[in-house]
Amino acid sequence: MRSKLLFALAALGCLAQPALAGPTEDLARTCNACHGVNGVSVGPSMPSIGGLPEAHLKNVMLQWKTDERYSATMGRHFKGYTEAELSALATYYAKMPWVPVVQKADDKVVAQGKGATERCETCHGATGGQPDDDETPRLNGQWAKYMEMELMKYRTESVKMPHKKMRGNAKKLADEDVPASAQFYAAQPK
Ligand code: HEC
Ligand code: HEC
Repeated sequence: MRSKLLFALAALGCLAQPALAGPTEDLARTCNACHGVNGVSVGPSMPSIGGLPEAHLKNVMLQWKTDERYSATMGRHFKGYTEAELSALATYYAKMPWVPVVQKADDKVVAQGKGATERCETCHGATGGQPDDDETPRLNGQWAKYMEMELMKYRTESVKMPHKKMRGNAKKLADEDVPASAQFYAAQPK
C-alpha cells in the first residue's frame, strides 16, 4: 500500500525532494556520462538537458519508451525505466539551471539564421530562450550540430517524430537555412 502510494506520488512528480533525491540522482549519473554534469553537455551532437522544461523532457522520454519517437540509441536505453522513474528524471533535470553554451559563428550565417527563424518566434521566442509553453524546449546555447540533426529528422517524412507543428515548420525552411537557424540559436546567450 505504502509503495503504491509512493509510486503514484512519484508519477505525479509531487514527492518531496529528499525521498527521491537518492535514487533519481543515481539514475542521473548514467545520463551525465553523455549529457554532462548537471545536464550541461560538452557537445557537439549531444544535447544539454539540464533546465529544459519538464513537460518537454517527459514527452520525449515517454515517447521513446513507447516507440512513438525515432531514436538511434535512447529508445532502447529507456525501455528499462519505469514511467515513474522517467517522470522523476524529467523533474530532476527541469529544476537545474539552463546553462547556454554560446557558440561563435560567422556574422553572416547568424544574420541569415535570424531571418529564417521569424516564423519560429511565436513558440520559441526571438532567440530561442523564451519558450511559449512547458512543452517547448530552449534553443539558445543548445548545441548547433544537435539542433541541425533534429531539424533534419523533423523534415524527413520516414523519421518518426510526433510533433506535427514542429514538423511543418522545419519543412518550410530552405535547405541552406537549416544549419543557419541552428547556428543562430547556438550563438544566443539568452
Ligand atoms: C550513450 C549516451 C547517452 C546516454 C547514457 C543518455 N543519453 Fe540522452 N541523448 C543522447 C543522444 C545522442 C541524444 C540525441 C537524440 C538521439 O540521437 O537519440 C539524447 C537525447 C536526449 C534527450 C532529448 C533532449 C532534447 O533536447 O529534446 C533527453 C531528454 C535525454 N537524452 C535524456 C536522457 C536521460 C534522462 C538519460 C539518463 C537516464 C540519458 N538521456 C542518457 C545520448 C545519451
Ligand atoms: C507551434 C510552435 C513551434 C514553432 C512555430 C516552431 N517550433 Fe520548434 N519546437 C516546438 C516544440 C513543441 C518542440 C518539441 C517537439 C518534440 O517533442 O519533438 C520543438 C523542437 C525544436 C527543436 C529541437 C530542440 C531539441 O532540444 O530537441 C528545434 C531545433 C526547433 N524546434 C527549431 C525550430 C525552428 C528553426 C522553427 C522555425 C522554422 C521552429 N522550431 C518552429 C515548437 C515550435
